[in-house]
Amino acid sequence: MSRGLVKTHIRGFDDDVLRGGIPQGHVVLIRGASGTMKSSLAYYVLYHNALEGVPGLYVTLEQNAGGLLEHVASLGLKATAVSDALPILDLSRGRDHLEEMVAKIGSMTDATATRDEALMAVLKAKVLELRRRRNFQLLAIDSWDALELILEFRDRRAETFGFFEWLRDLGVTSFLISEEPGLDIAPTALEEEFLSDGIVHLRLEPVTDTAFQRRVQCVKMRSVNQDSDDRTLLFENGRFEVARAIG
Ligand SMILES: Nc1ncnc2c1ncn2[C@@H]1O[C@H](COP(=O)(O)OP(=O)(O)O)[C@@H](O)[C@H]1O
Ligand SMILES: [Mg+2]
Repeated sequence: MSRGLVKTHIRGFDDDVLRGGIPQGHVVLIRGASGTMKSSLAYYVLYHNALEGVPGLYVTLEQNAGGLLEHVASLGLKATAVSDALPILDLSRGRDHLEEMVAKIGSMTDATATRDEALMAVLKAKVLELRRRRNFQLLAIDSWDALELILEFRDRRAETFGFFEWLRDLGVTSFLISEEPGLDIAPTALEEEFLSDGIVHLRLEPVTDTAFQRRVQCVKMRSVNQDSDDRTLLFENGRFEVARAIG
């Protein structure tokens, strides 16, 4: 049975790299160091889908909604054109914000739940409520690292697994933004790499002693025979575009 495909609207990426798009329902990791345009790219994908009538939800945890909107405006994207189809859930105040939500709707959470379980429950309830009300098809979580920090996972492996299962049950296509792990990272801290259905790497590649080029590589996309070659990533006149990298 074939599933629908989600377009990224990045020129040269959907057809040449993804052979059509991202299979609906996938959980895709957008991984890269700071400044590699992870947030820009995730917002861009949801924005262009929203313009075409596919609603999304952008959950921001690292920067507040105002900062995000200011940034995407500087990229030439008109967020006001999609404010209904692409609401932003601002959790940038972190744990405090979720704690307030727990206090407000605390009665719905199990009294025996630990604090972390209650925070997770309230976050899921909020997203589910928006899913019911807005029927969004695309979800971005910016970032997975920030979410993990707020929720203070004690059993990282089990909680990451549980969260991915929950995302899949939600029935949407999701993008998890994640920082490039350091070289000293324990392999056990990479559950999300094998749990995800797709991984898109963003990099700033030195091309001379002083010049850098943006690069994008789709290293994994389940059920797609994707092209894993490195591409240069260009952002011009409000459009992302990829081109073959000349090595
Ligand atoms: N108008 C623009 N055109 C191209 N690149 C831009 C523009 N405005 C900002 N940037 C780039 O976007 C980067 C930040 O993007 P962002 O998506 O926030 O990165 P990340 O989420 O990976 O940290 C900046 O470092 C800057 O290089
Ligand atoms: Mg970011």
